[in-house]
Amino acid sequence: MLTLGIETSCDDTAAAVVEGGSVALSSIVSSQDAIHGRYGGIVPELASRRHIEMIIPVVDEALGRAGVSMKDIGGIAVTNGPGLVGSILVGLSFAKAASIAAGIPFTGVGHITAHPMAAFLREKGDTAPPPPFPFVALIASGGHTTLLLQEGFTGYRILGQTRDDAAGEAFDKAAKLLGLGYPGGAVIDRLARTGDKTAFAFTRPYLTRGSLDFSFSGIKTAAINVVRGMGGVIPETAVCDIAASFQEAVVDVLVQKAVWAIEATGAKALACAGGVACNSRLRERLASAAQEAGVSLFVPHPRYCSDNGAMIAALGYHQLKKGVYGTASMNAVPAWDGL
Ligand code: KG4
Ligand code: ZN
Repeated sequence: MLTLGIETSCDDTAAAVVEGGSVALSSIVSSQDAIHGRYGGIVPELASRRHIEMIIPVVDEALGRAGVSMKDIGGIAVTNGPGLVGSILVGLSFAKAASIAAGIPFTGVGHITAHPMAAFLREKGDTAPPPPFPFVALIASGGHTTLLLQEGFTGYRILGQTRDDAAGEAFDKAAKLLGLGYPGGAVIDRLARTGDKTAFAFTRPYLTRGSLDFSFSGIKTAAINVVRGMGGVIPETAVCDIAASFQEAVVDVLVQKAVWAIEATGAKALACAGGVACNSRLRERLASAAQEAGVSLFVPHPRYCSDNGAMIAALGYHQLKKGVYGTASMNAVPAWDGL
């Protein structure tokens, strides 16, 4: 079965066609970074207006790249939360209308729990094995930092969550502070490569030993203090050193908590997803941590780590198979209990 996945929960308009919940035939993402960049953060009203302009062209392109038409699609998966209500409503309304027009069911998908499904996505012909259940999923994005024990495609247990800022949010705030624009995670990643990660001592907030919750607001405040201490004028080399030191502190915590989650659950595999999973240092450190822990690691291609429609289709496929269908009265959910 072909699933059309639609994602508009934040600032990316995304659509994808996925076969059997794992073979990505296409995945199109229209980024709004250029629109929100100059405001240093997402402006919800601008985000929803842009989604309205982009949703039809993006879906058309996803169908076109996959070489199919709506007649070939068996079901539609659409993010219905959590996220910005005005943004979600654009994708959700489109999905409802397309489902009625094509005479096929749609299903509402949770954005956070869709992220780990990226670990199952493959290009056609790629025979890499999927992660075995149960596996630990580390989801690190702009809005969430969560550890799950993924027990099945649609079944999971929450192991830990952030108590304040998300990892990506901390990256973005540090980048803004260093004058690197928004969103800044990828820029910090790039500059950190030439920086000295031991130049600045950022404390690692592990909370209590063994705790699987996260807290990143302290590292962010420490970065603010370092920049203030320099009187606001930061030499080029210091920017790279701060980026490297800051990144290493965040990565240390993410990796340590993932290892503790493996120890606590006895899981044999680890998957990582969310925009921060694009981070090169995190990918490197997870690879050595997984090897040391004797578990297999599944870190998807960066295009499936950051927000995309394919992960929505991947989870939606399993919901549709179970007959979990959305109705015309389904609403956008800004935040929900659990995930
Ligand atoms: O998953 P995502 O695309 O959207 C949300 O659901 O939030 O994640 C976006 C976040 C942003 O905070 C961005 O700065 C961060 O992912 N990010 C990175 C990198 N690429 C994107 N953070 C660190 N290193 C990167 N290479
Ligand atoms: Zn996301």
